[in-house]
Amino acid sequence: MTPEQKQLVRDSFAKLAPIADDAAALFYQRLFTLDPKLRALFTHDLKEQGRKLMSMIATAVAQLDKVEALVPVLRELGRRHIGYGVRDSDYDTVATALLWTLEKGLGADFTPAVKDAWTACYGVLAGAMKAATHA
Ligand code: HEM
Repeated sequence: MTPEQKQLVRDSFAKLAPIADDAAALFYQRLFTLDPKLRALFTHDLKEQGRKLMSMIATAVAQLDKVEALVPVLRELGRRHIGYGVRDSDYDTVATALLWTLEKGLGADFTPAVKDAWTACYGVLAGAMKAATHA
C-alpha cells in the first residue's frame, strides 16, 4: 500500500466510525445475500460479532504503518477462522460485501481511489490470515 492509500483508508474509516453498528449490520446482510450458506458459520450474537470485526479493522487501520507487527495476530486469527469453517474462497465474498458496505456508508466519498485503497488494505489482512492457513 502507498502512503496515500493508507491515508485514504484512515480518513474513510474515520467517516464510518459514527455509523459503525449500522455499517456492520449492512455488511452481514449483504454477505448473507451473496452467500446464504455463510449464515450458519455465525453461531454467536451478530451485533457483538460486528463490533469485533469493526474493532479488528480499526486496530489494523490504526497500525497500517507497521502492519508487520500485526502479522502474528493475523496468523492466529486466520487459524481460528479455519475452526469457524471459513474457506479461502469465502475471503473474496467478504471482500465484495465489505466494499459494498463502504460504498453505501461513504456515498460520494467512496471514490475509485478509496476503493483501490481498501482493496489493497483488505488484501494485506486477508493475505496474512490465509497464509497462516497454509503454513
Ligand atoms: C480481513 C478479514 C477478517 C477479519 C479482520 C476478521 C475478524 C474477525 C474477528 C476479530 C472475529 C472474532 C473472533 C476471533 O477473534 O477469533 C471473527 C470471527 C468470525 N469470522 Fe472473521 N474476519 C475476517 C474474515 C472472515 C471471513 C472471510 C469469514 C467468512 C465468512 C469470516 C467469518 C467469521 C466467523 C464465522 C467468525 C465466528 C463467528 C461466531 O463465533 O459466531 N471472517 N472474525
